[in-house]
Amino acid sequence: MKNLSERILNIAPSLTVAVDTLAKKLKAEGKDIVSLGAGEPDWDTPLEVQNAGKAAIDEGKTRYTAPQGILEVREAVAEKLRRENGLEYAPEQIIMTSGAKHAVFNSLLAIINPGDEVIIPEPYWVTYPELVKLLGGVPVIVHTRVENDFQMSGEELAKAVTPKTKAVILNNPTNPTGTLYSEDVLQDIAKVIVENDLYAVSDEIYEHFSYSDSFRFKSLASFEGMLQRTLVINGLSKSHCMTGWRTGYVAAPKEIAKLIAKAQGQTTHHPSNIAQYAAEKALKMPLDIVYKMRDEFRNRRDFLYGKVSKVPGVSLRVPNGAFYLFADISKLFGKKTPAGKVISDSIEFCTYLLETVGLAIVPGSAFGREGYVRFSYAASMETLAAAAERFEKGVRALQ
Ligand SMILES: Cc1ncc(COP(=O)(O)O)c(C=O)c1O
Repeated sequence: MKNLSERILNIAPSLTVAVDTLAKKLKAEGKDIVSLGAGEPDWDTPLEVQNAGKAAIDEGKTRYTAPQGILEVREAVAEKLRRENGLEYAPEQIIMTSGAKHAVFNSLLAIINPGDEVIIPEPYWVTYPELVKLLGGVPVIVHTRVENDFQMSGEELAKAVTPKTKAVILNNPTNPTGTLYSEDVLQDIAKVIVENDLYAVSDEIYEHFSYSDSFRFKSLASFEGMLQRTLVINGLSKSHCMTGWRTGYVAAPKEIAKLIAKAQGQTTHHPSNIAQYAAEKALKMPLDIVYKMRDEFRNRRDFLYGKVSKVPGVSLRVPNGAFYLFADISKLFGKKTPAGKVISDSIEFCTYLLETVGLAIVPGSAFGREGYVRFSYAASMETLAAAAERFEKGVRALQ
């Protein structure tokens, strides 16, 4: 048989998806598993949103539409960006996608040529470097420091820029660290991006989940000189518990939006109409429902932090955004499991927890940072309590 695609053979599978799939499989087989692996809110899609999807079916809105998405839905996105983020976009600058992941892919597809370097701060969301590689680009990873709350500084960014740099991918608030970038740091980053004539792919999917009392989320596109060079990624998966509907979007400069629409017209054609009408409803609803979730996530964060931070050998800080805790477990390396196996990395540690105490969390190496693990606290208090108990039991059993 002839060779298969090297571009795909050369990328890593998503470890977060793998952990979630394995945990769900083990559960389906009757195993006692508690999973904090997935970044997926545990509530149902709001009823009004569900009904909007059903109405679209009942009203026969089930035919092909424009590749960039349904006009009313794009208008609702443009209105959201104006109202909540102070960003001015025309509907033709908005492309509806099958989830934010698809929006990231389409955005990179529109800007990357083979050999282009794309700067990604680490720890990063698992998908970014792999998509850059898939498109023939070169991911350039910038190490961030826990002392800076894992924020990439303007200086660190500037050092990574070369004549080949095309773009920077920034995820704020950040998966997996829960970092919420401060306005000052964003300002510095924007300055470097503008000075070096780069594009920014700004993944803002967790924007509503920010918990700081002293500063608020700000879109990277809102800084001076950034609107014309930023591709804003967002979607309803997290804010409106719509992970399975696959609704996301990208807002981009006109020329880039045109390219994305062309690519989408030749690939998926457009995301599901039913999901788009449901998204329109979600975009037009008051944000109370989202703020209620945010407040509950903050309680959950505090609860899980309280438990995990007391476990000997584990250290972590209180993050200000998203719904993840990122804990340093490197002090546990070198210890032995009751079966006599030495734990030497985060994959071995997570495998040990899954096999012995039935807890699924994600190894830090999936996000480019060895020595850490990620807990998602998008789970009920009951699940978090069980997870914390299992985590402590597993750690304490190490010798
Ligand atoms: C940073 C980040 N961007 C995008 C996504 C994907 O969102 P969607 O489910 O809308 O594709 C996720 C999901 O985990 C994420 O963490």
